[in-house]
Amino acid sequence: MGLMELIKKRYSCRAYEDKAIEEEKLAQLVEAARLAPSAKNLQDWRFVVVRQEDIRRQVAECTNQSDAFGRAGVIIAACSNSDHIMRCGQAVGPIDVSIALEHICLMATELGLGTCWIGAFDAEKVRQILGIPKEVAIIELMAVGYPVNGKCATEREPIERVVCYDKWQF
Ligand SMILES: Cc1cc2nc3c(=O)[nH]c(=O)nc-3n(C[C@H](O)[C@H](O)[C@H](O)COP(=O)(O)O)c2cc1C
Repeated sequence: MGLMELIKKRYSCRAYEDKAIEEEKLAQLVEAARLAPSAKNLQDWRFVVVRQEDIRRQVAECTNQSDAFGRAGVIIAACSNSDHIMRCGQAVGPIDVSIALEHICLMATELGLGTCWIGAFDAEKVRQILGIPKEVAIIELMAVGYPVNGKCATEREPIERVVCYDKWQF
């Protein structure tokens, strides 16, 4: 599938079949994350891929849609070891991890899988369940699995509202 087609096909999936993701597909998802760019090529991300059903359901309980996300084939806890701040003043950790997660989203779309970013979760509970050290930031969770429904389209701002050229003209 072409890149623009994949971008258009991706959506936030909140209904999953109770079905495992094949090892080969999982391997492609994590490889897509591994190949993502990162500031100074630090690659200070760590991904805990939760496959085991009982742990997955415990992690899903830490979100606001525990039933839906608990059925996803995996929940990925995307973490960062980095406390590096770039010269521009922005923290590297969340940016690097987010790029890698979006690689996962697009790869998953290519493989016929659905994904959902999850920012609404209790990070301290997830930390305890997964044994993630306190110095490691849990940036996001991501559900990945076989979707039950197709895309339900969400709105986007028109291009002129979000893009200008040459100087700030909003
Ligand atoms: C950083 C981030 C955090 C998000 N957190 C959640 C979440 O906790 N729960 C949820 O159901 N969707 C979550 N979403 C999905 C957004 O609601 C969704 O991307 C947005 O509504 C656009 O819809 P679409 O992804 O289907 O195009 C999150 C998305 C992003 C990028």
